[in-house]
Amino acid sequence: MKVLIVGSGGREHALALSAAKSPKVEKLYCAPGNAGIGQVAECVPIGAMEFEKLAAFAKEQAVDFTIIGMDDPLVGGIVDVFEEKGLKVFGPRKNAAILEGSKAFSKDLMKKYNIPTAAYETFDDPKEALAYLETAKMPVVLKADGLALGKGVLICKTLEEAKEGVKSIMEDKKFGAAGNRMVVEEFMTGREVSVLSFVDGKTIRILSSAQDHKRAKDGDQGLNTGGMGTFSPSPFYTKEVDEFCHKYIYQATVDAMAAEGRPFVGVIFFGLMLTEDGPKVLEYNARFGDPEAQVVLPRMKNDMLEVMQACVEGRLDEIQIAFEDNAAVCVVLASDGYPVAYEKGCPIEGLERFEKTQDYYCFHAGTALKDGKIVTNGGRVLGVTAKGADLKEARRKAYEAAEWVRFANKYMRHDIGKAIDEL
Ligand code: AMP
Ligand code: GLY
Repeated sequence: MKVLIVGSGGREHALALSAAKSPKVEKLYCAPGNAGIGQVAECVPIGAMEFEKLAAFAKEQAVDFTIIGMDDPLVGGIVDVFEEKGLKVFGPRKNAAILEGSKAFSKDLMKKYNIPTAAYETFDDPKEALAYLETAKMPVVLKADGLALGKGVLICKTLEEAKEGVKSIMEDKKFGAAGNRMVVEEFMTGREVSVLSFVDGKTIRILSSAQDHKRAKDGDQGLNTGGMGTFSPSPFYTKEVDEFCHKYIYQATVDAMAAEGRPFVGVIFFGLMLTEDGPKVLEYNARFGDPEAQVVLPRMKNDMLEVMQACVEGRLDEIQIAFEDNAAVCVVLASDGYPVAYEKGCPIEGLERFEKTQDYYCFHAGTALKDGKIVTNGGRVLGVTAKGADLKEARRKAYEAAEWVRFANKYMRHDIGKAIDEL
């Protein structure tokens, strides 16, 4: 099979490595890819939002199967464009990717189908939002409706902050058109867990759980980022939590989408909060998490292509997903200053050590080739993952390997997976 992956981050590198392991795959392309992906796939210089060009490339090269890694093209309808041209593609159509593309849509869906989530109100008019906030309990959570690189969420402790928030989202349009509509949500407390799943429109198969670390600095301080590190599985995702989520959240979401005439095929990422009143959905994403994929996929025993084909062909019920009985930790190596301002183009040393060592992975997120050398090219530069017998071993190994790599302005959190010490 010839396979094309669309995207250019650490998640897509993890997808590329899993695809390359499949005996089904003879040729792997990635558009646009990055320097690390270029070691396992042929990178094609077409942007992830250039749907027509990507589909034309897939036709010309007789690509058998395309995997969409990123949220923007999915929400923009890339799957519909590929399907119209008779191309096989893994990911939700536009009418289903709205599960991630509109927070108002996903909240309304959960309300209609009794899927546990935080109480909320939706506003199109900032004046109405401000009036509502006068009576709301603080802290309160404001969410821009549309995609905002994971940054369109403001947690406001006081009424003053909330008023400022409405202004920045709805009036100043800090997150662009994503803020034309806004969701105001009850603040929840608890531990967060990410659960990824494969879905074929009817059947859902859950993958091993993970936990992200979204804030830039140790101790969950600093700004929200795309994610600074992950571990899998999450010891807080107990058998009881799993049973509850199967009963009230997972299949209920898949059935709700089907009932709405929006059958979901692809990956649903459930962002869960384990509250005192039980697990609740914080958000849905319509794709693998980044850097969740970097700790979940290396532990999956299945041939990823086989599972994805079963999703597209509506026969996921024939497949059982199996995971290695171990753990993985991913530490993101970022450019100092991320997520605000940072330097690019710094040479990266020490990458060759990963080629010789089993159970260690160095996923490239923001890298590029310059004069034959690998250089930094983004805020999140690399994701160093290690597998171990348990979380403690995996964490020790991941931090050991994080030291193998050197580049100017290298920055990382030092407390990824620290939560396991509380157990
Ligand atoms: P989201 O993009 O919806 O996942 O929100 C980003 C982050 O904001 C989440 O990972 C949580 O840490 C936090 N968050 C979102 N919604 C809430 C909520 N209702 N209560 C508390 N924290 C929240
Ligand atoms: N790591 C969170 C996300 O991919 O949205």
